Amino acid sequence: MSATSTTDTTRAREAMVDAIVADHARFGQPPLSPAVERALRTVPRHRFLPGLPTAEAYDHEQAVVTKEENGLALSSVSAPSIIATMLHRADLRPGQHVLEIGSGGYNAALIRELVGPFGQVTSIDIDSDVIVRAEELLADAAAEGVHLAVADGEHGFAARAPFDRIIVTAGAWDLPPAWDTQLAPDGRLVVPMRIRGLTRCLTLERTAAHGHWRAVAVDPCGFVRMQGAGEYWEPMPLLHEPDGAQVGLRLEDGPQPDIEALRTALTTDPAESWSGVTVGAEEATDGLDLFLASVADGWALLTAQRGAIQAGLIRPIVLTGTPALVDNDGASFAYRVLRKISGQERWEFGAVGHGPHATPVARQLTDLISRWDRNHRGGPGPHIELLPASIPTTDLPPGRVVPKRHTHTVLTWDRRPSSDT
Ligand SMILES: C[S@@+](CC[C@H](N)C(=O)[O-])C[C@H]1O[C@@H](n2cnc3c(N)ncnc32)[C@H](O)[C@@H]1O
Repeated sequence: MSATSTTDTTRAREAMVDAIVADHARFGQPPLSPAVERALRTVPRHRFLPGLPTAEAYDHEQAVVTKEENGLALSSVSAPSIIATMLHRADLRPGQHVLEIGSGGYNAALIRELVGPFGQVTSIDIDSDVIVRAEELLADAAAEGVHLAVADGEHGFAARAPFDRIIVTAGAWDLPPAWDTQLAPDGRLVVPMRIRGLTRCLTLERTAAHGHWRAVAVDPCGFVRMQGAGEYWEPMPLLHEPDGAQVGLRLEDGPQPDIEALRTALTTDPAESWSGVTVGAEEATDGLDLFLASVADGWALLTAQRGAIQAGLIRPIVLTGTPALVDNDGASFAYRVLRKISGQERWEFGAVGHGPHATPVARQLTDLISRWDRNHRGGPGPHIELLPASIPTTDLPPGRVVPKRHTHTVLTWDRRPSSDT
């Protein structure tokens, strides 16, 4: 490599870390620890993305897909910004033993930096191609001492347990028992977890007995889906089927609504409701999404292909999933929309309803948005606990219970002391 290109990559790396630091300040996240910042400034990310232009390798928000099948990403090198947040949350110390589930090389090299020569890094992936690639790239980047193995993360990696930290870098739906048994008593688990269709990166610590966890931090994130024994796909019936103009509803397990009735609803005239609650271009809405997912019984995510919007079937939405509500009648639904406030760089939240109860269900959604604005906006977010699925639901703390195979997730929102509704 020429001296000039080394200077270029060093500059690009510095700029990447500066951008992450600035984002943390702008979005009110805690500043990165000096150790994480140093590691990010040290590990050459471009070495893990050979052939990619330097500017893209050091784009702080860009995940780079390294393997896909039928248009679905199976493996990627994660975006530096979320990697930085997860490493910060993991609070890695020199000498620790760490398990990374989902390899790629880059994150393992950063963990290696953080735990130092007396630490141990084990990185596993379900895909042998990923492990072969990571092995080559780690050697090329002179990042030695990472133990790589092909394994399904659902079972952890008993041969090198116990671990002080487990960092999962694929989107999990549940928390398998092996992560509990293989984590040291005072260990930390950082995992992107799907909760009612939303992915949140949870930093988990045990509260008491094995299998009882509480989230000490909750960060928005997106990851490729976990494969193998823990793979799970939420039901996603289509309300409109033509390819290129599909409209779907991503639902939780449990009683399913009458899809034929909802298909009919989509063909009926829409009704609108507006909340008076506004949002700026740079304001995150992940707190609102999680609130709606917690409190709405008929919670769903509306997904769409672009053609459905172009055809006027639905209003512009986030195609991969926009908060929606199925009415108690099972035959009406509403989804969240935005309208621009004239003369301002702000947008108002509203809802569009369809079906026999189009107006009440749209109003129900905007009422919930107003409740979030009054009682929780800018607040600390929900308490999230994960408890063994063997506990009867009647013995669980009050809150939204999301039942899964191994664990129940319970979300509880504190009201602001001054709020009354
Ligand atoms: C986002 S990538 C990992 C990124 C990586 N940590 C990095 O350094 O940027 C997610 C990886 O998880 C892997 N994966 C998916 N399901 C898995 C499972 N059950 N066990 C282990 N790895 C899995 C995928 O093959 C994929 O390579």
